[in-house]
Parts: sequence; C-alpha cells; structure tokens
Amino acid sequence: MDSGLDFDSFARLARARRTHMIVDRDRPVGDDVIGQLCELATWAPCHKKTWPWRFASLTGDARARLGEAFAADMADRDFGDEGKREKTRTKYTRTPNILVVGCAPDAKPTIHDENRDAVAAGVQNLLLGATALGLASFWSTPPLIDSPCALDLCGFAADDRIVAVIYLGHPNGTVEVPVRPTPAVTHLT
Ligand SMILES: Cc1cc2nc3c(=O)[nH]c(=O)nc-3n(C[C@H](O)[C@H](O)[C@H](O)COP(=O)(O)O)c2cc1C
Repeated sequence: MDSGLDFDSFARLARARRTHMIVDRDRPVGDDVIGQLCELATWAPCHKKTWPWRFASLTGDARARLGEAFAADMADRDFGDEGKREKTRTKYTRTPNILVVGCAPDAKPTIHDENRDAVAAGVQNLLLGATALGLASFWSTPPLIDSPCALDLCGFAADDRIVAVIYLGHPNGTVEVPVRPTPAVTHLT
C-alpha cells in the first residue's frame, strides 16, 4: 500500500523525536489525542496477532498514585534505597500526562518475548505520532516491571508486565540531539 509519505519526510520525523520532558506542566494533552496515539501503537507488527499491548492514561492525582504504587512495592521488595523511593513517589508529576504501556504474557517463551518486541515497536509508533503532533515524549523504564500495585492501578492483569512509562506534554524547551554512531551493517552477496 502506498503510504503517501516520502522517505525524507519520514526520516525528518524519526530524527526529530527526542526524549525529553521540558513541558508546560499546566497544559495536559487531551484524552482524544491520547486515544489517537494508543491506536497508532496498535499498527506495530505483532507476531501471531496476539495484540499484547495494554495502555493506561494518567493525569492529575493519578500520576502521584502511580509513584506511590511503585514505591510501595519497592519497599516491599527492599528494592532501591529510601532516596530512590522518595523520588519515585513524585517523579510522574513532572509532566501533565503519563502513559503506562504494558505487555501481556504468553505461555510459549518465544511468543512471550515477541510480545514485548511488538509492544516496544508500538511504543515507537506512539512516540513518532506524538512528535508529529508537536508533543514532547520521554520513554522511561519503570522501577519494577511487575509491580503488583502499579499493575492493579493501571487496570492491567497481574501477569502483564510494564514496558514503558511515557511522560507526555506540550514542549516549552528543547534538548541537545544525541549524535548517532554510524550503524555497522554487514553486506553479504
Ligand atoms: C527501552 C527504553 C527505556 C528507556 N528508559 C529510560 C529511562 O529510564 N530514563 C531515561 O533517562 N531515558 C530512558 N530512555 C530514553 C533514552 O535515554 C534515550 O532514547 C537516549 O538517550 C537517546 O535519546 P533520544 O531518544 O532523544 O534520541 C529509554 C529508552 C528505551 C528505548
């Protein structure tokens, strides 16, 4: 199918995406846009059509509740020191929107791993969509991918895993562009 997009336009979009959270804290992204971005994520390739992605959109007090949920399980498992737990309690309030992206498990180990690959591909779709809309995005690793309190808060199943906690907002600043090393490509004929 013809995408209608030329390579240079797509390359500009891919290169323009930056990991940052310099945003207007008082200007949330609307639920309709969040919905559009999650839908875009679902166009990622997905082996065996397991559609493993799960999404939770958090604004307002829910962002602090997410931090509290992670911190509770960190304390329960003696993970990280009190300083790290304290930071976790508040860090998700740094942007007006937080999107938690989860991944469903699979009984077959190969599909289980591929589910996570598919979700990661979906996250990239989502980040590129956010960039195209002029939004700032930041893919962060959760403190615990299997935090029962965070999974429950997000409405995910107990055996789902958290792949990304994405900070989102309207940018009011920029960051430096990290230089990309030239990829090593083996050409075989
Ligand atoms: C799976 C994954 C997890 C990441 N987790 C974090 C994180 O926890 N904290 C962070 O500062 N950046 C995180 N990043 C973002 C990278 O730091 C960022 O992509 C890298 O610095 C390159 O910058 P760029 O995205 O602006 O090109 C993560 C990226 C990926 C792909």
